[in-house]
Amino acid sequence: MQGEGTACSRPDHGRAGTVYLIGAGPGDPELLTLRALRRLQQADVVVYDNLIGDGILELAASGAERVYAGKRCSRHSMPQAEINQLLVSLALAGKCVARLKGGDPFFFGRGGEEIEALASCGIPYEVVPGITAANGVASYAGIPLTHREHAQSCIFATGHLKDGTVNLDWEALARPHQTAVIYMGLGGLQVICRQLVRHGMPAATPAAAVQSGTTQDQRVVTGTLDTLPDLVAAVGLKSPVLLIVGEVVKLHRRLAWFAPELLDRAASISECLPSESQRLDPVMLASMQRHNT
Ligand SMILES: C[S@@+](CC[C@H](N)C(=O)[O-])C[C@H]1O[C@@H](n2cnc3c(N)ncnc32)[C@H](O)[C@@H]1O
Repeated sequence: MQGEGTACSRPDHGRAGTVYLIGAGPGDPELLTLRALRRLQQADVVVYDNLIGDGILELAASGAERVYAGKRCSRHSMPQAEINQLLVSLALAGKCVARLKGGDPFFFGRGGEEIEALASCGIPYEVVPGITAANGVASYAGIPLTHREHAQSCIFATGHLKDGTVNLDWEALARPHQTAVIYMGLGGLQVICRQLVRHGMPAATPAAAVQSGTTQDQRVVTGTLDTLPDLVAAVGLKSPVLLIVGEVVKLHRRLAWFAPELLDRAASISECLPSESQRLDPVMLASMQRHNT
């Protein structure tokens, strides 16, 4: 039980504050839900992870304290037990806490462990779901996760296990007519591609690696199970990266609409238009430019 070992002793005065466990989405601040924004603005303290997109923290109240509790791959900057204790202690001190997590807190996010600790100390909490990396990244990369002609199901897995190994249910991942989405798979990319082929996927199966999806740093590398590891190494993709494997990846070439490389230019063009009513949203303008090239 994750709540075990968390000290709950309550000071004599006052009531405990509430902890809002908030999914901050995959990066683009505009993908926050209305409730996430409202809860974030109510918080006295914001405890946030390293995958919180630029611009999201700025939406918190200006006087709110900000505490970084991020982790990068296996380098844990704050152990989970310490994060649990921090949330409990802040709430027991009467603070209203926004616990911001990338994507959705219950999707490869250890949100369950954090609220177990809160529940074991009788602290009120609320969970605000977020757009997962899989949803956001696939949308911004123009890769529909299911498609009647290509994939009737989708499977999600994490490519980084607690003990550092990559030991997945390869048979389940390699099934045909399915899209496989693999989180935290950059370090194990070569092993993942090799094992999928060994378990029956054709080496020519389309595969994509998407870095920092939904943000200005988004980069999409597409290839096949055979070629993707070398292509990713050549480009030098950096975490966070999401892997998408399956026939749907072929659609990227035709359906990609988000053009981060054109955003700066689109923003300056939009600024130059004489009246505000004529101005187009830069994301839309960049997308239009991409389609015209
Ligand atoms: C600890 S998991 C968090 C997942 C999150 N809770 C969710 O609902 O998507 C972190 C991994 O999510 C993926 N990820 C998160 N944001 C991403 C982004 N903007 N672009 C690509 N991958 C992302 C990467 O695989 C990263 O290593």
